[in-house]
Amino acid sequence: MGAADDAGAFALGDGRALIQTVDIFTPVVDSPADWGRIAAANALSDVYAMGGKPLTALQYLAWPRDVLRFELAAEVIAGGMDVMASASCTVVGGHSIDGPEPTFGFAVTGVVDVGDIVTNAGASVGELLVLTKPIGLGIITTGIKNGTCPEPVADEAVSVMTSLNDVAGASLRPNRASAATDVTGFGLLGHLREMLIASGVGAQVDYAKVPVIEGTVELLEAGMYPGGSKRNLASLRDFVGAAPGESELRILADAQTSGGLLAALPKDGVEGYLRTVPGSTVIGRLVPQLGIEVL
Ligand code: CO
Ligand code: CO
Repeated sequence: MGAADDAGAFALGDGRALIQTVDIFTPVVDSPADWGRIAAANALSDVYAMGGKPLTALQYLAWPRDVLRFELAAEVIAGGMDVMASASCTVVGGHSIDGPEPTFGFAVTGVVDVGDIVTNAGASVGELLVLTKPIGLGIITTGIKNGTCPEPVADEAVSVMTSLNDVAGASLRPNRASAATDVTGFGLLGHLREMLIASGVGAQVDYAKVPVIEGTVELLEAGMYPGGSKRNLASLRDFVGAAPGESELRILADAQTSGGLLAALPKDGVEGYLRTVPGSTVIGRLVPQLGIEVL
């Protein structure tokens, strides 16, 4: 657990390891089915970030029966099941309780050949940083909760959050990725920092190359910025040396839900990775000096 990796890995003794992770959260969108789909895609993501293939999942649901119709819970569960099926991950069981707030998620077990495990450590100077999904999800979901998010922006965010990191994960080893993580609650810069500390290197991020969902900047300017992102920003101040401006920094520190993979790849592995992973893009490079510079 020391290197802040996305999931635990347990060697089975036959050359393979189990990958285990759990992710549970409260609603981020209004549609119960979409929330269920997002929760499933998000829970699977930690397995993909380790280079693993998901096998089974256990579902967890807390529901305030007296406040919300149970039919809505059924929609949440159906959404989660759909995404798990699309990932060929078998839901083998679960547990539900009466709770004050709807809470949903999965514990996922995957498998990987021990030699193919991709951790946060291993990134080296000269390699390139690749991101596979656009950011802005914390700002947008805050806009959704406040009723200030335009529908096309919300639709795009849901499409980003429900898309699987399966291809992004499966393409890591074949293109010799040296480190990878998924971008979730700590935001792009927070998860990058974990990778840099584990690998003992620094990074330059080209802000102009970071894909940001259209509409994010407007929502940020309208004051939509979640508490988790504020905490990320505060904790990143000492680690980020240079940045073009405050609003850029806010977007880079924004807490994501079911974000993309952030991977370090050698220069001659990048081209193959970009070709196989739709939406992936180079956002920066690794440098000797520990810390982050945003150009
Ligand atoms: Co993760
Ligand atoms: Co996680």
